[in-house]
Amino acid sequence: MFSIFKKNKKINVNFSSFLNQDMHSHILPGIDDGAPDTDTAIALIRGMMSSGITKFMGTPHIMAEIHRNTRASITDAYEKLRKALTENNIDIDLKYAAEYMIDEGFLDHLKKGDLLTVFDNKILVETPFYHEPIDIEDVLFQIDTAGYKAILAHPERYHFIDDKLKVLDKYLDRDIALQLNILSLSGYYGSREKENAHKILDAGLYRFVGSDLHHTRHLNRIATMVLDRKVIDKLEKLAWENQQITDFAPSV
Ligand SMILES: [Fe+2]
Repeated sequence: MFSIFKKNKKINVNFSSFLNQDMHSHILPGIDDGAPDTDTAIALIRGMMSSGITKFMGTPHIMAEIHRNTRASITDAYEKLRKALTENNIDIDLKYAAEYMIDEGFLDHLKKGDLLTVFDNKILVETPFYHEPIDIEDVLFQIDTAGYKAILAHPERYHFIDDKLKVLDKYLDRDIALQLNILSLSGYYGSREKENAHKILDAGLYRFVGSDLHHTRHLNRIATMVLDRKVIDKLEKLAWENQQITDFAPSV
C-alpha cells in the first residue's frame, strides 16, 4: 500500500556502476586547496576505493595569482604520490591533468601550448562561480583554434546558469562536454546547485562525471551519499565518456 514510497526510495549510491574512472579530483599533495600532504592523499584514495572508485586522476587548479601550478609542479606532486602509494602497497590507476581556470592567465597558457590534457586533446576548464568571463566566446574560439577540446567542470555550480539552461548553448554549440560533480546531486553545494544538476542530468547533457574531491568532508559525503532510485537509474543509463579515459592509449 505504500508503493509510492518504495518507488522513490533513497538508496546508497554504487559508484562503480557509473564512476569507475574519476577524472576530476584534488588529491595530488600540497599544490592547491586539495590534499595538503601525501598521508592525506592516501587516506582520501583509500576512502574512495571503499566507495568503489578504482581509477583516479589528480586535476590540480591552475589559477592566476592563487594556484600557479605548472606541468613541473604537477608531475612532481604526482611522482610523490606514486611513491607513497607504492610504499603503502596500494595498486591503483592514477593519472594527472589540471583544472584550468578561464582567467587572465589562461590565454597565455594556451598560447604556450603543452596543456595538460585529461586524455587525447581534452582539457578540463572552469570559470569563476559568480560571473561568466566577458570574453568567453573568444576564449572558446581560441581553445578550438589551438586544437583542444574543453570539458567544462561543474556547470551546475555557476551562478550565471539560467532557468532554461540557455547560457550553456554557447558551450554545447562548440561541442564542449559538461562534467557533473557527483556531490551536486545530493545538495552538498546548495539547493540551487542541486536543482541545476538535476535539470542538466534530466536534459541528458552531461558527458563526464567526477568527484572534485578536495578533503575529508567531501569523502564522507560521497561515502554516505544516497539518491532516489530513479536518479541512480539515470546515472547508470547515461553513456559517460569517462570510460574513454581508461581506454585511451596516448601516442608515444
Ligand atoms: Fe576542481
